[in-house]
Amino acid sequence: MLTKEQAAIDFLKSQITEYPETAIILGSGLGGLVDEIQVEKRIPYSKIPHFPVATVEGHGGDLIFGKLEGVAVLAMNGRFHYYEGYEMADVVFPLRVMKLIGIKKLIVTNAAGGLNEDFEAGDLMLIEDMISLFPDNPLRGKNREVFGPRFPDMSEPFDLSWLEKTKSEALRLGIKLKTGTYIGLQGPKLETKAEIRYCRIIGGDAVGMSTVPEVIAANHMGIKVLGISVITNESIPKVAKEFTHAEVMSVANQAGKKLVELVKAVL
Ligand code: HPA
Repeated sequence: MLTKEQAAIDFLKSQITEYPETAIILGSGLGGLVDEIQVEKRIPYSKIPHFPVATVEGHGGDLIFGKLEGVAVLAMNGRFHYYEGYEMADVVFPLRVMKLIGIKKLIVTNAAGGLNEDFEAGDLMLIEDMISLFPDNPLRGKNREVFGPRFPDMSEPFDLSWLEKTKSEALRLGIKLKTGTYIGLQGPKLETKAEIRYCRIIGGDAVGMSTVPEVIAANHMGIKVLGISVITNESIPKVAKEFTHAEVMSVANQAGKKLVELVKAVL
């Protein structure tokens, strides 16, 4: 059954003339990338049938069709977080729609706390792998065979050739790029010191409240993924100190400039 997605697709198809193969999800404070897009069509989520509506501070809420570095892209300006109260199916609804509109590659970005001692606020981290600590999963329930298999392989959730390309572009541009494992958890509370130690011990380099559901859905549907975190604060065992959402947004805005440069180069 594709009724809901079909309604969204029918609407979107009535709005656009070119179908991009690459989608970009903009994380908290990273909307600056939008300014670089030659916008052809900006569609508020509220206009798209069955699309959830973004609520969190600092997030816009529209789909942007346009060109970035001459490449047709679809950008999601504002994403849906599980902690906002959406069901996992809602969190990944836009991904389902993207697949049906022909998206083959996805760049996901986010703001994250750095767990790794070598990281500092403002760093970019290329996500090489991830750990889900979410209590739910977008694939739970009856499998939707039209999208992918019951037990999707997740041994390489991030596209290897894209990882290599991003590393070499960062080197060329002189952008310091860390690499590591992203841990996604439910939120919205931030981590206790003990949780930070735990996340580090189990292998995390950065921690955040998004991305994991979208990466699972993308892998399920055979969409290639590139993930980049902006480290907005140091959630490092022993160092962790208080920080505010405003600080997260401000660091993301600043470091977002490097991210934009890198994403453009990769495209
Ligand atoms: N923890 C969880 N999510 C975050 C953080 C953090 O420290 N920073 C930005 N998003």
